[in-house]
Amino acid sequence: MKVLVYGSLNIDLIFSVDHIVRPGETISSSALEKGAGGKGANQAAALAKAGMTVYMAGKIGSDGEFLLDLLQSYGVNTDHVARYEGATGQALIQLDKDHQNSIVLFAGGNGVIQPEEIDSVLGCFGEGDIIVLQNEITQISEIMKQAKKRGLKICLNPSPFDEKIEARPLDLVDIFFVNEIEGAALAALEVPSVPLAPFALSLYLSEIFDRLIDRFPNAEIILTKGKDGAFYAGGKKRARGEIIDTPVVDTTGAGDTFTGYFIAARSKDFSIEESLDIACKAASIAVSRKGAMQSIPFKEEVF
Ligand code: RIB
Repeated sequence: MKVLVYGSLNIDLIFSVDHIVRPGETISSSALEKGAGGKGANQAAALAKAGMTVYMAGKIGSDGEFLLDLLQSYGVNTDHVARYEGATGQALIQLDKDHQNSIVLFAGGNGVIQPEEIDSVLGCFGEGDIIVLQNEITQISEIMKQAKKRGLKICLNPSPFDEKIEARPLDLVDIFFVNEIEGAALAALEVPSVPLAPFALSLYLSEIFDRLIDRFPNAEIILTKGKDGAFYAGGKKRARGEIIDTPVVDTTGAGDTFTGYFIAARSKDFSIEESLDIACKAASIAVSRKGAMQSIPFKEEVF
C-alpha cells in the first residue's frame, strides 16, 4: 500500500515577534528563520517519519529544491514534484511570545497545478492506495474525482478553510481531518465565543459529529482540538485521544503531524483509540519544537 500526498510545498519564513502585527502597525521581529513547510509537504514528512512509504506530488520553483532534499532525507519519494519557472509557495509566519502564530500564504507553484499533470501522477497509484489532500493547491476537485475513479482512499484536511471548500466533491472523502473551526463550518454551526466547560464541550462536539455523520454517512471524521486532544466519529463509533504534556514552543505544523501519524498508525493496524493517542503524542512533541517540517518527531520517539 502506497500513500500519495498531493499538496503544497512552502518555504516558511518565521518572524519571531512580541505580538501579531495589528492593522496599520509596523513592528520589528527579534529573529527570522527560514524553514521547510507547506501542509502537504509537512504531512508527507510526518508519514515518512512514521515509517510509511510516501510519495509527494506538487510543484516548486528553483528556490524550493532544498524542500525536496529534506523530504528525500526522510525517505519521501519526490519524483512527482514538478518544476516550473516561477517561485515556490511561501508562508509568512508570525510567531508571538505566547507561541500563537498567524500565517500569510503566497501560493507560488501550489497555485499552478495543471489538469493534465494529474493523470500522469495518479496513473502510478491504484486500488488500496491512499491519497492525502489539503486545501493549499489548485485542482483539488479534479484530483479527488480522478483518485476515487482509480480506487484510492481519500483523506482530506480542508485547511486553510475557505469558501471554495463547499464546492469540492466532499461526498468522495473517506477520512476528514478538521480542527474545531473547520468541523463547525462543515456542520453549519457557530464556534463558541468563550471556552466551554467539559460537559458543554462534549455536547457541542456531539452536535458537530452528529451533523457531519448525517452529512457524510460513509466518512470517518477526526477533529483536533489543541490541548483537549482529538475526537473521532465514524458511523456510531466515537473515540477520543489525549495529548501528552509538553512545553508549547510553536504550534505550526502540529495538525499536519497529527494527520500523518494517524494515517500511519491506522495503516499499521493500531486501533482507532491507539491511533488517536499516537497521533496526539506526535503532535505534542512537534509543538515543543520550533518550525514545521523539522519539528515533526521520528517514529522512535512516538511508537
Ligand atoms: O500547517 C502548517 C503549514 O501551513 C506551514 O508549514 C505553512 O507553510 C502553511 O502551509
